[in-house]
Amino acid sequence: MNRNRFPIHKFNSIETPFYYYDVELLNHTIKAIQKEIEGKPFYVHYALKANTNSKLLQYIAKQGFGADCVSGNEVLKAIECGFNQSNIAFAGVGKTDKEIEIGLDNDIFSFNVESIPELYAINNLAKEKNKVAKIALRINPNIDAQTHSYITTGLNENKFGIEEDNIPIVLQLLPSLKSLSLTGVHLHIGSQITELSSFKNLCDKINDLQVYFESKGIKLKHINVGGGLGVDYENPDINPIADFYNYFKLFSSHLKVREHQKVHFELGRSVVAQCGSLISRVTYLKNGIHNNFVILDAGMTDLIRPALYQAYHHIENITSQKEQTPYDIVGPICETSDTFAKNFKLNKTKRGDIIAIRSAGAYGEVMASRYNCRDIAKSYFSDTI
Ligand code: LLP
Repeated sequence: MNRNRFPIHKFNSIETPFYYYDVELLNHTIKAIQKEIEGKPFYVHYALKANTNSKLLQYIAKQGFGADCVSGNEVLKAIECGFNQSNIAFAGVGKTDKEIEIGLDNDIFSFNVESIPELYAINNLAKEKNKVAKIALRINPNIDAQTHSYITTGLNENKFGIEEDNIPIVLQLLPSLKSLSLTGVHLHIGSQITELSSFKNLCDKINDLQVYFESKGIKLKHINVGGGLGVDYENPDINPIADFYNYFKLFSSHLKVREHQKVHFELGRSVVAQCGSLISRVTYLKNGIHNNFVILDAGMTDLIRPALYQAYHHIENITSQKEQTPYDIVGPICETSDTFAKNFKLNKTKRGDIIAIRSAGAYGEVMASRYNCRDIAKSYFSDTI
């Protein structure tokens, strides 16, 4: 996508900030995934946490993807937007009884269980309902995803999953938990992973685990390898679609999938990040002593990633053709961390110009807050704007 593909004349009459989704790019992205998994025992669940915009969810559900949820409300939202309940995986370290009941009542594909106490809780609730819950053990593989520490999940020090050392205890326990049926294992090492070798380490770990499970007489129906494939935030126009080819190829070549097994993926960011932009107007230009500020009407309440993870997002002035000038690009929120970029070269900017903050489709709208009593920004889609 480049600036010519933003319908600027339409943007002119819309109140900013807003999220803009390029449906064509989303479609190409989904097609690219489908192409790589075709003919393989692979199945993709879209990770709702990346973006729960209803229209987006309805669109993704129609493509036949399953859903990966991390709360009872996400499970309900997935069903409401057309995902088949039998294709919903439900992870999360702190599932409440109420949330577990939502999963049980809807006969979901799998509870990804993250601790021994959770095994007991699901077993008891399932028993009360006369049901057998399908579970996958979420195992903490202690693998470094080489990404930002806040979005690393698979290290021993992280709160997620059952530690490998505890697997023997769990396997001993399971036969007594009659309302649980162990169908798979789940591992997720982190997000925005660009170093594919981390996924190779994950495959090696799963291969070892499989041998162990089989030595205990357990055949797993599915292996869930989580999500985490990164996108190119620096060059959204050059690489609008994540490297699905090498990603799936890696799992094909390294994961020793048994004949009866299916491999499940939980992709979030790589499905929706690049199709979304946060569109904002320049409210003021302000010359500081050291820096020139571009003050936007969008802030960290609309896209928190730069403030929270020091994340880079490519930013463009889509209404200026002038020479590039360095600016600090900030929002209006009363926090110094409400900064989208420092010393960032934008085409020379004036009050009223329209700015696109790119790659905002994942963990943008869904992480919006009402801090400072801000309105939640609306969303528009390229096919209906
Ligand atoms: N599965 C599980 C169990 C997860 O925890 C996550 C993400 C995913 C799948 C999807 O991962 P993805 O394919 O999107 O990388 N807010 C952060 C990202 C948090 C990711 C949390 N878990 C950000 O803006 O970078």
